[in-house]
Amino acid sequence: MRKLNSKELREEWIKFYEERGHKNIGAVSLVGDGTTGVLFNVAGMQPLMPYLLGEKHPLGKRLCNVQGCVRTNDIESVGDSSHATFFEMMGSWSLGDYFKEERCKWSYDLFTKVLEIPRDRLATTCFCGDENAPRDTEAAIIKEKVGFKKENIYFLPKSENWWEIESGPCGPDSEYFYITDIPKCSKDCNPSCDCGHFIEIGNDVFMQYEKVDKDKYIPLKHKNVDTGWGFERILAFLNTTDGDIYKTDLYAGGIKILENKLGISYNTNEDIDRSVRIILDHTRTSTMLLGDEKHLVPSNVGAGYILRRLIRRMVRHLRKLQINLNELGELIDLNIDTLKEMYPELHQNSNKIKSVIIEEKDKFEKTLERGEREFNKIVNRMKNEGKDTISGQDLFTLYETYGFPPEVTQDLAREAGLKVDTTEFDKLFKEHQEKS
Ligand code: ALA
Repeated sequence: MRKLNSKELREEWIKFYEERGHKNIGAVSLVGDGTTGVLFNVAGMQPLMPYLLGEKHPLGKRLCNVQGCVRTNDIESVGDSSHATFFEMMGSWSLGDYFKEERCKWSYDLFTKVLEIPRDRLATTCFCGDENAPRDTEAAIIKEKVGFKKENIYFLPKSENWWEIESGPCGPDSEYFYITDIPKCSKDCNPSCDCGHFIEIGNDVFMQYEKVDKDKYIPLKHKNVDTGWGFERILAFLNTTDGDIYKTDLYAGGIKILENKLGISYNTNEDIDRSVRIILDHTRTSTMLLGDEKHLVPSNVGAGYILRRLIRRMVRHLRKLQINLNELGELIDLNIDTLKEMYPELHQNSNKIKSVIIEEKDKFEKTLERGEREFNKIVNRMKNEGKDTISGQDLFTLYETYGFPPEVTQDLAREAGLKVDTTEFDKLFKEHQEKS
């Protein structure tokens, strides 16, 4: 595999597409504009909605970029070695131009010729069909023809293999997975399994439909391809033996700063590694959101509330590792430096980013210590009662009285060997929001 660093990988991506007639459209704001029902820019295709629906793009029918994205729906997974709330997506689009034939061939060539990932390490998926869209045998035939191994082509259902957001253009996925050294967990193990054998590294969506309502799809007039590949994960598989994104050059400076403060190397203690990854990811995402052209600030609703949660969880892990956040300005500067080419406005907002994070930290620290004491009381009570799951009511009390976002309590619970009832919490949280 080619040992490309982050800068080289971005450049290779753009070069590959420019050689095939694509125009680089650059990156846009990470904060959603409210038109698509999602709070953040969750995929490179989001700003392209009108063009995927048929409007003429000023730069033509073939586009590409590398775009920052923010996804917080699996925020509690951040802490492992492959998840991040801010990540870069390498994108390319055909707006009513080429379709499956070119797309499958280029994807195979990119993986095996440009990135030199061995064919044996690649798995791919096709849509198995439902009442809205037929089984994608066409893609499977093309994939085998261009070089993918037949036994590594899987058919998956809509729940696993379909791309859509709240509304707008959508369609069946053609996903790509890196096959790791972790053995299959069973003979039925397939790319939808999260045992670690398959790690998703890319997705080409054959965008043929428009979602107009819940379960209501109409065919699009022209067929698009929406490609989004995971930058950090690919970088990790090219450069590390275990695919840990936090071992790539993107995080190397941050890891060094934390190692110096902790006096312990990364990758020697899983519990500390988890906190380190959460601190690195959440600082990076908060930096990006605060420095964004839309000037997001922490609040109790919408995107601002997610930002607040990220900062609070980061503050809790810093406290756990006994690191003083006031000393972490250098971590923020480092994030800005890594991403300033794509987001030039970050630089001029650096003082604001630091002061807002410190202000939020000061506010949360007032209740954090008392909240942790309350949490310990809950744990003792549960032990006496022989229970292993913290109730949604307790989660809600910690949220309402001490400002603990659910993932902060989830982290504390995991460290105490307990589970949490998030379903009941979600219900109570919703009722509370409706009342207020
Ligand atoms: N929009 C597709 C995704 O994010 C490519 O997976």
